[in-house]
Amino acid sequence: MRNYDLEFLKHFSMVIGFLVVVSLALLWLAHHLNGVIPPEVSPSAVRATQARIAPAGDVYAGATGAASQAAAAAAASAAAAAQVAYDGTMDGSVIFGNLCTGCHTSGAGNAPTMDKAHWAARITQGTETLYKHAIEGYTGPDGGIMPPKGGNPALSDDQVKATVDWMLGNLK
Ligand code: HEC
Repeated sequence: MRNYDLEFLKHFSMVIGFLVVVSLALLWLAHHLNGVIPPEVSPSAVRATQARIAPAGDVYAGATGAASQAAAAAAASAAAAAQVAYDGTMDGSVIFGNLCTGCHTSGAGNAPTMDKAHWAARITQGTETLYKHAIEGYTGPDGGIMPPKGGNPALSDDQVKATVDWMLGNLK
């Protein structure tokens, strides 16, 4: 081999070596960048996962179960409202007008109507007894059935007492 051939081979292999180093550096950089970028999730894979982990045996009404959720919310608020009958009013006329009047105005089932004549004998028992009978329920000599709290257990004792007071004050 001639001298300049050797010289060429030396330079050529230096260039090749340099290019190999650059290539390795680029490979390392690409690998590093690939690790930095978050992996893209395919939407169909997401759907498949959602389908796999969806609760089994759930009852859905309407598009998203919104109807059953609304029904549950309505039931919860109705239950909460029932805890406090008639918004907790202590106005006997309101409670009487909503509930007690059903029997005590018409005299249904031998209920004493709001005439003084019907109440004279009952009043002699004393107000405490009338409260007790209105709260716990009562069947007297007339054989009628006064249901406990007029049939609405959500009424507080004090609400019933206020209503009895109102009734006694409004006899005709
Ligand atoms: C389902 C019908 C009915 C409703 C509703 C009702 N009552 Fe009566 N109530 C009766 C009857 C019947 C009697 C008579 C019972 C008897 O003497 O045999 C009575 C009797 C009473 C007495 C007299 C008890 C006694 O010792 O003589 C009071 C006080 C009374 N009710 C209060 C109320 C109040 C307050 C309400 C509403 C919160 C109410 N009632 C709702 C049927 C009803």
